[in-house]
Amino acid sequence: RESGPLKVMISGAPASGKGTQCRMIVEKYGLVHISTGDLLRAEVSSGTEIGNKAKEYMDNGMLVPDQVVTDMVVSRLSQHDVRERGWLLDGYPRSYAQAQSLENMKIRPDIFIVLEVPDDILIDRCVGRRLDPETGKIYHIKNFPPENDEVSARIVTRSDDTFEKVKSRLETYKQNSESVLPTYSDLLNQIDGNRQVEVVFKEIDSLLQKICDNASASKLAK
Ligand code: AP5
Repeated sequence: RESGPLKVMISGAPASGKGTQCRMIVEKYGLVHISTGDLLRAEVSSGTEIGNKAKEYMDNGMLVPDQVVTDMVVSRLSQHDVRERGWLLDGYPRSYAQAQSLENMKIRPDIFIVLEVPDDILIDRCVGRRLDPETGKIYHIKNFPPENDEVSARIVTRSDDTFEKVKSRLETYKQNSESVLPTYSDLLNQIDGNRQVEVVFKEIDSLLQKICDNASASKLAK
């Protein structure tokens, strides 16, 4: 592994828990969280040209064209804080072309995490998901209800979280995920995401800790 701050990719089907785990990773490791889904939703809600173009794809559960997403990610990765704090790429790369764009720029992670969750559970998680637009915190009406009435009153449902749209997002994921994995086969860590949030995080945390420990050991040896 090269020295410098930690670089992490996290992947998995819709509602496999990427966003939930990313919040916990960021809290502990201070990495810059780059979620293409969040970046695209921000473009849609501000009504930008990119947002208007992306909305139709997102509402149909399809991938937004590679170039649009890659430009967004590359521009975020080039900012100063990323070089200083390291990065956590969430939901990117999602196609062979996206992975190749990063490879061509010699941008590689230290680890590629995939969260595995059975389909029926994913659908239930999506349909029950709610977001707090003020804090970005992720809830679930049954599993993780808001902590008070104030939050309850403002939580929203994502427009692509209906039963039909989730099915097509899942289909899109299945069509594309296999084409990304070979690029990262040496860094791949598949994790059972169908366990309690804290249990999943514990496993991710110990993997990241190991990378950090190895990096400091090799620094000392020099
Ligand atoms: P994106 O926003 O990335 O959506 P996604 O991949 O479908 O993932 P989600 O955000 O739905 O789920 P998550 O895994 O983060 O789960 P969460 O933690 O919220 O992408 C949206 C769209 O943007 C795409 O469809 C595409 O159109 C476009 N796009 C994005 N990236 C792109 C790219 N690279 N290229 C092209 N297009 C792109 O959890 C879900 C629910 O489960 C929550 O309610 C949560 O509370 C609950 N939960 C989480 N963990 C657990 C657990 N362990 N046990 C029980 N419940 C849990």
